[in-house]
Amino acid sequence: MLPLDPADHVTLPQLPEWQAFRFAVQNASFCTDELRLVEAAGLTIDLSAHVTSPATREAAAALLAARGFEQARKALLAGEHVNKTEDRAAWHTMLRAAEPIDAVAREHRRVREFVQRADAQGQWKAVIHIGIGGSDWGVRLATDACSGSGARRTLKFVANIDGHALEDAILGLDPKDALIVVTSKSFTTTETLANLRRAVDWLTQAGIERPYDQVVAITARPEAARALGVPAAQVFEFWDWVGGRYSLWSAVGLPVAMAVGIDVIEGIREGAAAMDAHFAQAPIDENAPAQLALAGVANRSVLGYGSLSIAAYDARLQFLAPYLQQLDMESLGKSVDMAGNPVGVSTGPSVWGMPGTDGQHTFFQWLHQGTDGAAVDFIMCREADHQWTEEHAMLLANCLAQRQTLLQGTSADADRTGMLAQGMAPDMAEWLSRHRRHQGGRPSTLIVLPRLTPYALGALLALYEHKIFVQALIWGINPFDQWGVEAGKKMASGILQELHGQARSTAHDLSTQHWISVLTASR
Ligand code: F6P
Repeated sequence: MLPLDPADHVTLPQLPEWQAFRFAVQNASFCTDELRLVEAAGLTIDLSAHVTSPATREAAAALLAARGFEQARKALLAGEHVNKTEDRAAWHTMLRAAEPIDAVAREHRRVREFVQRADAQGQWKAVIHIGIGGSDWGVRLATDACSGSGARRTLKFVANIDGHALEDAILGLDPKDALIVVTSKSFTTTETLANLRRAVDWLTQAGIERPYDQVVAITARPEAARALGVPAAQVFEFWDWVGGRYSLWSAVGLPVAMAVGIDVIEGIREGAAAMDAHFAQAPIDENAPAQLALAGVANRSVLGYGSLSIAAYDARLQFLAPYLQQLDMESLGKSVDMAGNPVGVSTGPSVWGMPGTDGQHTFFQWLHQGTDGAAVDFIMCREADHQWTEEHAMLLANCLAQRQTLLQGTSADADRTGMLAQGMAPDMAEWLSRHRRHQGGRPSTLIVLPRLTPYALGALLALYEHKIFVQALIWGINPFDQWGVEAGKKMASGILQELHGQARSTAHDLSTQHWISVLTASR
């Protein structure tokens, strides 16, 4: 029996409220004389650089109502089985609830006790974290962003199956003073299990007789970790109703706590909980995730921007782009709606970026003068956590300048006049002004954090989680499954067997078959 009646789901292009929203957006404009700020969980979200009009706001409310926004939000926050294709809840908000269910409270308490005991006993000079995707990016991001409180231990990361990743991680470390933390929801990810085996071999080769006594496992399959030899007291659990890319709030935060302190992961959870509370009760016009989602759907599915660039003007947020790449693209990279039909409009954008001002010297040329452009999320912190106030002012000035230039562009007339005034020949000035013109009219959001605290980071990440949920609701797709990653994994294990000469397949394309033959011959 299907978990939903496909007949109940209207494919988006057939929805009158969608047609009205699309028409309103197509006929809206940038209202540069209107300041659109939304306050949420200590963050300020500036939506002024998106097309808007009374008609778009009215159509947006009608569209969300037609998609059952209130009911869907309630179901998500109540832990109902909103992940229909896997018949699961997506209850990441429970992980940061002030009064969580017993199992969550128990694991939070176990993590805190483990970290406090290790700190008290001065255990482990280094931690090697093994995990990939949602079992990796959040740990990297939170550790990097919140290292200001001082690193307690060296934290090294191993995600890629490429042996260089593990080699780099263990280089210079004392095996006797290194804790291996393996994070894997499924405990079946081949890269992670292979890297774990190599790391345990490294301990064994150093003469450590009980290597698994130096292993902590964080997984939704604790029995698999215990069967491998990890002591039960060092196995921490999260659950199948926690998506991998939504799992930082769980025991997955343990390595962050080992590196920069337990108060960091607790602060991150508090900030996320504050954003949850905002999302749960703010009316649509002041609901930051909903407003970000509506702007995102307008930019993607109506105005045709194929990508979203993340420009975080803070060097400590270098992992925000890859974190959001997985969160957004693994959630919204779907083309079939809940009824099993083609969605009928463009869905999840490609998400990319790097911290500003580095991006200005890398791809802002494309953002300003490229044929397509992209929507941009600018993120900045009002206060720095360093002493150089002038450099921080320069950073923020660059952020604001780039955003304004994307929106307003430059005047070819003014540019031409300037060149003529400098004595340039008219035909040269005319010709050059065409090359130098920034066309403008490119949308962006500005998200302002008071400063980069664990609380603000948690609020920021939860903002994006809920934005993605609302965009999926509008498009009618499931943001919580990831069927698209399965085929490649299965193919890889088959090709690996062929590279070992243990199997042969005639189903390969000519090129793949050629390289399997070449690589097999050279082994
Ligand atoms: O990329 C597919 C995926 O399943 C992600 O959703 C997940 O975060 C990652 O692989 C790692 O999975 P696991 O935590 O089960 O090792």
